[in-house]
Amino acid sequence: MNAAQLSSYERDGFLVLPDFLSAADCDALQARAAELVAGFDPGPTRTIFSTVDHGHARDRYFLESGGDIRFFFEEEAPDQLNKIGHALHDLDPVFGRFSRQPALAALAREIGMVQPLLLQSMYIFKHPGIGGEVGWHQDATYLHTTPVSVTGFWIALDDADRENGCLIALPGAHGGPLRKRFRRSGDAMVTEELDATPWPAVEPVPIEVRRGSLVVLHGLLPHASSANRSSRPRHAYTLHLIDGCASYGLDNWLQRADFPIRGFT
Ligand code: FE2
Repeated sequence: MNAAQLSSYERDGFLVLPDFLSAADCDALQARAAELVAGFDPGPTRTIFSTVDHGHARDRYFLESGGDIRFFFEEEAPDQLNKIGHALHDLDPVFGRFSRQPALAALAREIGMVQPLLLQSMYIFKHPGIGGEVGWHQDATYLHTTPVSVTGFWIALDDADRENGCLIALPGAHGGPLRKRFRRSGDAMVTEELDATPWPAVEPVPIEVRRGSLVVLHGLLPHASSANRSSRPRHAYTLHLIDGCASYGLDNWLQRADFPIRGFT
């Protein structure tokens, strides 16, 4: 990353790095995801997702996914996968090798992370005609440290544009406060309002990128994505990092019972 890219990241709260991945890397991650899907028995999980009164089981399936590789379905199309998460980077050898490559470690350092930790990973499908929208949010709502340090590496495994549901962001709005926190409260999850400041009135920018691009996302940047209304898939792999210098609250949804959150080594 050069000085101009760093200052554009600091100004906008996001940065596109085209051609970060080779086509062969994209192919390899997509092939590995397909293998994981082929090896997944949806039977028990589908029951959890398809039945209204399985709320508790569904919550537990999600809450325990921070230390596992689990499969999540689309809300509107319960037989279609929405994503795989949330410890691919630690538990799967292919995603693990990819996620801990020196180029990503260098990028984390260049944007100012002192002790980057790989907290969470997701493989997102966004199937053609099915993949739903993701509403406006800040990632620090879901992965919270004091001070805020969460940073997203969003990697396009297909071309992403307005038709197939690319990211949309409010440039510069990462300067505003954290609005909400999604956190544990006893056995339940609550969304707590922290600051009622509305999103600033800036024009949303679609982040249209080519396959192999990496988008760096500041943890306070408001972003969203629309549904995939095209006939093309829009796969993406995301990593969320936090800084080990910041404190990670025990009330975050993502807790690791069995193994620690690690950095790049
Ligand atoms: Fe996000």
